[in-house]
Amino acid sequence: MIQIDTSNARSFLPDNWLSSRLDALEDARQKLETGSGAGGSFTGWVHLPRDYDKEEFARIQAAAERIRANSQALVVIGIGGSYLGARAVVELLNSPNFNLTHKDGPAIYFAGNGLSSDAMAEVMDLVRDKDWSINVISKSGTTTEPAVAFRIFKNLLEEKYGKEEARRRIYATTDAHKGALKGLADAEGYEEFVVPDAIGGRYSVLTAVGLLPIACAGVDITALMEGAREAMEALAVPGAENPAWQYAAARNALYTGGKKVEILVGYEPSFRFFAEWWKQLYGESEGKQGKGLFPASVEFTADLHSMGQYIQQGERLMLETVVRFQSARTAITIPHDPDNVDGLNFLAGKDLSFVAEQAMRGTLLAHVDGGVPNLVLTLPGRCAKSVGWLIYFFEYACGLSGYLMDINPFDQPGVEAYKNNMYALLGKPGYEDKKAELEARLS
Ligand code: PA5
Repeated sequence: MIQIDTSNARSFLPDNWLSSRLDALEDARQKLETGSGAGGSFTGWVHLPRDYDKEEFARIQAAAERIRANSQALVVIGIGGSYLGARAVVELLNSPNFNLTHKDGPAIYFAGNGLSSDAMAEVMDLVRDKDWSINVISKSGTTTEPAVAFRIFKNLLEEKYGKEEARRRIYATTDAHKGALKGLADAEGYEEFVVPDAIGGRYSVLTAVGLLPIACAGVDITALMEGAREAMEALAVPGAENPAWQYAAARNALYTGGKKVEILVGYEPSFRFFAEWWKQLYGESEGKQGKGLFPASVEFTADLHSMGQYIQQGERLMLETVVRFQSARTAITIPHDPDNVDGLNFLAGKDLSFVAEQAMRGTLLAHVDGGVPNLVLTLPGRCAKSVGWLIYFFEYACGLSGYLMDINPFDQPGVEAYKNNMYALLGKPGYEDKKAELEARLS
């Protein structure tokens, strides 16, 4: 399903960029397949597209149908891996304007992914007078941003419907056994979905974490899982032809050769949040021990008129990975204009997607000429099956890449630093000494 073209990176790579890494890739593949590498207890996502809980999957579909029938809005509360995947897929398979363009089912608002009062008040205003439901998602059940948002939105829902009906409109996705959210969900009797122990946040989009909001948006989650399963089977096959091996080897070789930034390039505005999901996946998986390509993203052609200058002529520290979907869903023909004042009649009768394709081809060569290697990933179309494939491809290649770099791709110890400071400054019990120390430094 996915095709990788490394030809526009070859002039930046040594001849043995792939062959010299085949043994290490085989070692990484075995670690992923058997869970025997660093962080191996978090490789539950590797066989998830085959082994997922079918009973829970049916409950997710039933809950989504209920929400689609009784809610004009769904507030999805979560942060990081507990929200980016859902938003990525909802937008990529629909539009960034999903809430304006969807024909049935609820509008979907994402909350609890920051601490902006204004952003939260806006969502509160948007849902207040509608019929609405909540999906609160937190694996740990203790993350501050979604916990605070849930308290606020739960109050709002209870004010509107009373405790009994509100309870039926709250869906909790959390750990199977522990955490504050689990305790609350049990006590209140919310319908619960599980974030499996063996799957970390950024690898969890194909669990209930992503699937419930995605299904509420009307996406065919069976096709999404089918695409991921096809990818799982294809990418488990070892060898130089494996596109995940090629992607992991190329970016590793370019990194070793001095590149420091990988820019994910999309040509669809609906791709923006998929790139945000990808940034978390690679940033949290690889950015540790002073190592890792910095994951960035751009949307072309819009950003060719802003970041394009830097990419063409700034510091030569980046590579680009372009994701392209072969077929557009719609055809728009450029009209003939008898006056031709804008001089565009040479394009009359051409499809807009033809113009986009030439822009992409021209940009690729310009950037290669400017010293930016390009890897190109091509998928047939923007459908649920392709997106399932793409998700799994990036997850698998990320696992391989982490092991090639000799790091644990499944932990995120650095995320705790800000949390501990914030807890101390907020006066959380147990952090008294740290609070005094931080306040002294800040005064
Ligand atoms: O990838 C990760 O582990 C993080 O981004 C988490 O998903 C994020 O911090 C949210 O955590 P939780 O689901 O426990 O609220």
